[in-house]
Parts: sequence; C-alpha cells; structure tokens
Amino acid sequence: MATEAAKLINVFQPSLGQQELEAVARVFESNWTGRGKITTEFEQRFADHLDAPADRVRSVSCCTEGLFQGIELLGIGRGDEVVLPTISFVGMGNAVAAHGATPVFCDVDERTLNATAETIEARLSERTKAVMVLHYGGLPCEMDEIVELVDSRGLALIEDSACSVSSTYKGRACGTFGDVGVWSFDSMKTLVTGDGGMMHLRDPELAQRAEEALYLGLQTTSGVSSNAERRWWEFEIGTFGRRAIVNDITSAIGLVQLERLPSFIERSREIHAQYDRGLAGIDGLLTPPAVPAEASSTHYFYWLQTAPEKRDELALFLRERGIYTTFRYYPLHLVRHYGSDASLPVAERAALSTLCIPIHQAMTDDDVSQVVDAVRQFYGVV
Ligand SMILES: Cc1ncc(COP(=O)(O)O)c(C=O)c1O
Repeated sequence: MATEAAKLINVFQPSLGQQELEAVARVFESNWTGRGKITTEFEQRFADHLDAPADRVRSVSCCTEGLFQGIELLGIGRGDEVVLPTISFVGMGNAVAAHGATPVFCDVDERTLNATAETIEARLSERTKAVMVLHYGGLPCEMDEIVELVDSRGLALIEDSACSVSSTYKGRACGTFGDVGVWSFDSMKTLVTGDGGMMHLRDPELAQRAEEALYLGLQTTSGVSSNAERRWWEFEIGTFGRRAIVNDITSAIGLVQLERLPSFIERSREIHAQYDRGLAGIDGLLTPPAVPAEASSTHYFYWLQTAPEKRDELALFLRERGIYTTFRYYPLHLVRHYGSDASLPVAERAALSTLCIPIHQAMTDDDVSQVVDAVRQFYGVV
C-alpha cells in the first residue's frame, strides 16, 4: 500500500492559482500573446506600486538581464571598477565582469549582511565608476549614507532589488534610490511570473535609452521612418540592442500577483514574527536584526546565525525532517572565476554561520511550528 509522501517545506514557494490561470486564458482568447497592452498596464501598475512615474519603469525578461542592461546603459566597461557586496547574486558580478570592468567586492555588516557606506568606501579607488547594492532578504540598506557617499564621489548607483519588491526606506521604495533599480519575478521570488523582471531608471533620458536597448535598438520616438504611413515595415535603430522584452502572458500573471502582493507580504511578516517569538533566547542562535522604524521589509529571507561548526549540521538536521534551507549568497570573492584576492572576514564568517530557513506566504501555522520545533529540538530546547 502506498504511503502518503511526507510534506516538504520549501524555502521559497510561489502562490499561483485560478486567478492567474484565468488572466492567462483571457490573453489566449485575445489572440495576442506578445508584448502589448497588458504589459504596458503591468509596467504602469508596478510604477504606481513604487510611487514612481510610469515613464521610468520598464519590464525586462529577467533581473539578470536588467543588471547587464544597467551596466551598459551607464557606459561601464574596460578600465572601470564597480564596488559591490561580496554577498550578492552571481548575476551582479557577471554583469560587471562580462563588460570588461572589474568587480571589486566589499564586505558586509555582520548582522544585516548588507553593504554599508563604510564597507563600500573602503574599496573605492580612482577607477571606481559605480556602486551596486543589494537589500539582503528585503531588509533595506542604510540608503541615506550610501547615497551621500556615491553622490559625493560622483559615482553611479545600481540597486538590485530582487529581494525587496515591497521594501521601503524612509517611505521610498527600495530600487528607486539608484540610477538603475532592478527586480526579479522568477519562480523563487515573492511576486512570481515564471520569469521576468522590472527596471527603474531614475533619469527619463536613460529610461528612453533602456526602452530601445531592451527591444533591438528600435527607435520608439525619434522618427521611425518618414514613410511610416505608407511603408510601415521600414525602421531605424539607435543602438545594437537585444530582445529582452516581456510578453502579455507573463504580464497578465504579474498583474494578478501585484494585486495579491500586499497579502503575501502580510503573511510573510506574520511568519517572521512567529519565528522571532519561537526562536528567541536560544543560546548560540541569532535571529535576523529588527527592521528599523524608518524602513519596511519584504521579509523575503529569514536568516539564522549559528556557531560556524553547527550551521551545516543544523541544515542536515532540518533536511532530514523535510525542511529545506539554504544560504544566500555564497561570497563572490571566493568564486575562483572572478580572480579576486580580497579578504573579507565578516562575509567569510557569515557564509559559514548563516542559514536561510523557509519563509513564504504559502506556509501554514503548522509548517511554521514544525520549523520552530525542529530548530529548538536541534538546540535541545524543547
Ligand atoms: C538578489 C538577486 N538578484 C538577481 C537575481 C536574478 O533574477 P532573475 O532570475 O530574474 O534573473 C536573483 C535571483 O535569484 C537574486 O536573488
């Protein structure tokens, strides 16, 4: 007799259902699945969500592509350095290195795992052209200090906001502080469209260039062809752009997810608070630092910090009980292909002691209790 498979608790999990299916069905019925009205609406609604002008927000095929586009749009290339936290998504480092520039990895705060003005400043040189930051697990970086630093040095700022779709700092959406901000809607994010992303470009002229670069360089404003009325197949390009656009199937899912987003964040916030209560006061175990009063978090990660010799053991102990965990993000300065010789002790220690445990809106209270009980059991606190 087949036994019922034990339930596994995922670290991240999308919530996609009937509403998204119906939205996709409507796109099928319209006979137009490419980039069209639904995508324009998704961009407008996402701009409203950010409280940003609609002409600064552009959909993009994925966040990694947005990072690559950002580097290109800012004219970063050979001879330039870009400072970024070593605890970053690999696409950030790749975007810099693939354009011939040098990624210069900086250390992070030991508790937030965010880069700070201080850790960034320690790695600036006369070749630095830009700084990239990531809001770790949705917890905003200290943006006042970082913006002041980059402005005082005349540097560009790129924000990877993939973890922070609903995070704010002093009332302003994370991702809108920099020259370029990028979001991801891949299958493991809070808002999921399958694959996809958004870009925010602070300067309208840069936003216009992004629009063209994302779609083959086709010129959208500056006179396509003087014969457009008679010969609509003629065109001009302003740059050798790629095709990194989003279609209406993806955007239809995104529109539904955007409506549901506040409920996702609310549920993640509750889970975060349940973990805080259930895991407080365990000797040798740290829970994430509190979200500062002037900020709000997406609560995309819940990270535990243990003694380094305990971390892998805890991960295995939880996995044997059907609870998946991970560590985001393995320090890039330790990835050989980047050829970095940096020594970044805080990040190196964090990489051995930090574990991201499950947190997503589909978790039930029972799931949360199961995780709390298992962690407490591991520490012999029952
Ligand atoms: C912080 C961060 N940035 C960027 C990305 C890349 O997003 P995408 O999968 O949309 O390219 C990810 C994906 O995991 C991420 O976690």
